[in-house]
Amino acid sequence: MPRPVYFTNQFPVYSPFQYPGGKTWFIHWAFKWLDSFASPPHIVEPFAGGGSTSLAAVFNGRASHATLVELDPQVAVVWRVVFSDRAEQLARMCYTFNATRDNAEAVIASSPTDDVGRAFRTIVRNRLCFAGILVHSNTTIRLTGKNKSPADLRKLFNAPERARIIKTLYTARDRFTVVEGDAIAELERRRDEKGLAWFIDPPYSADKSGAGSKLYEYHAIDHARLFSAMARLRSPAIMTYDDSPTVLALSAGAGLGVDRVPMRTAATKEIKNELVIGRDLRWLGPA
Ligand SMILES: C[S@@+](CC[C@H](N)C(=O)[O-])C[C@H]1O[C@@H](n2cnc3c(N)ncnc32)[C@H](O)[C@@H]1O
Repeated sequence: MPRPVYFTNQFPVYSPFQYPGGKTWFIHWAFKWLDSFASPPHIVEPFAGGGSTSLAAVFNGRASHATLVELDPQVAVVWRVVFSDRAEQLARMCYTFNATRDNAEAVIASSPTDDVGRAFRTIVRNRLCFAGILVHSNTTIRLTGKNKSPADLRKLFNAPERARIIKTLYTARDRFTVVEGDAIAELERRRDEKGLAWFIDPPYSADKSGAGSKLYEYHAIDHARLFSAMARLRSPAIMTYDDSPTVLALSAGAGLGVDRVPMRTAATKEIKNELVIGRDLRWLGPA
């Protein structure tokens, strides 16, 4: 039987983001992998983005702890705040935000200097700008397509839900560590550590035609160094990536195995394969 396709809306929402290229659809497979460990490991997501896999793993007892590593400061600041004593303040700002076009544009045009204000601005941009894309040039409010009226903007922002998610994350703050920094440096620094489970989801930028540069402010990666750092890790690691000849060559070059799981793209809704890369992929079961 072919592997089933899982959809984002089949899983509870733990992340304050609706992240472009997010891996909520992969949670089923991530749980299958984490269930193959003798006991719930400490998951490390070095390209954290919206972090939905790590959050789901911790909240469902599949991981004892999660470390989220993110280079983009506007994303990292959200993680820092939600797991800090300033989470309540951020939740309140979201709860009381009247998501009109004017208010959203004013927040997006602002330059807050404190962490709570910066985190709030990121959340507003992620919810209300085109496709949730956080590249600096994307400041267009999503009043297009099926979202045309002011009520649609409020629905998109969903203030009570933003506040609920932030408050829930705060309750689990002891089980999360946030690192604002470079993924590859973190892989190299923790190379010999045992007890970790590395979930590696880089920006899709191995091929020039990849979506990475359109979706993320930070997308330039030294892929040879990344794959070689992954191959040297002492703890188990998996990576997800576009199914492309470049990525297959990088995997082979680092001595890593590959398998495939089906997914449906957000943009075109077509079913295609995503690569799962790792030293040991037996946990995936038969294709
Ligand atoms: C494909 S997204 C991760 C999506 C995430 N797995 C999710 O489910 O939402 C890749 C992320 O890596 C971040 N990033 C890019 N270069 C990085 C680097 N060198 N170190 C850490 N994070 C980086 C981007 O800002 C982006 O948030």
